[in-house]
Amino acid sequence: MKIDIISVVPDLLNSPFAHSIMKRANDKGLLTVNVINLREYTTYARAQVDDYPFGGGAGMVMMIEPLVNAIEALQQKTNYDEVIYLTPDGETLQQKMANTLSLKNNLLMICGHYKGIDQRVRDHFITKEISIGDYVLSGGELAAAVLTDAIGRLLPGVLNDESSALTDSFQDNLLAPPVYTRPEVFRGWEIPSILKSGNHKLIDAWRMEQSLERTRQRRPDLLND
Ligand code: ADE
Repeated sequence: MKIDIISVVPDLLNSPFAHSIMKRANDKGLLTVNVINLREYTTYARAQVDDYPFGGGAGMVMMIEPLVNAIEALQQKTNYDEVIYLTPDGETLQQKMANTLSLKNNLLMICGHYKGIDQRVRDHFITKEISIGDYVLSGGELAAAVLTDAIGRLLPGVLNDESSALTDSFQDNLLAPPVYTRPEVFRGWEIPSILKSGNHKLIDAWRMEQSLERTRQRRPDLLND
């Protein structure tokens, strides 16, 4: 999969994909992330990419021309399955959406700043608008990093244990059960003895019970879905 991300602060996105699982996805050739500097696509002086809003009001708006220049230049080289705008008024990201997007080949993500992007870009170029939650970030970069990570780890071959993405919280509308590792006893705190029983049927049943209980307590809304 290839993910291209248009940003006015491309350096913000250097680190998230350079470590751990996202780095492995890149090293294995399973996920290529390119960050494109929007300022390279403006024809305005001093690499300007934003301007005052028509009608007045506080804040700046990202101009249509640099964005369209960048999007169209990238579209010349790549046929994108989705052109995604990260915005707090988009559809809220859920595991299902990450699953669906992980089946695509090429995604283009656009990170907004200031008061957002000129509405005409949204009307004519964007195919999907995604929010990562009901709070406002100072720009779309961290949201694009979150979305890319959520998608990237689902690509076949990225996780070592192929089954481990399937047992994540949310994959089946259940939160994940508690987990333990060595030592067996720490400050007198013991692990549940069933986990040492070696009986995998019983262990699976215990984990399912724990998942259900945790979901009932913390996210009962998931059980109604
Ligand atoms: N940009 C600013 N806030 C955001 C959010 N919550 N989700 C996606 N993009 C954003």
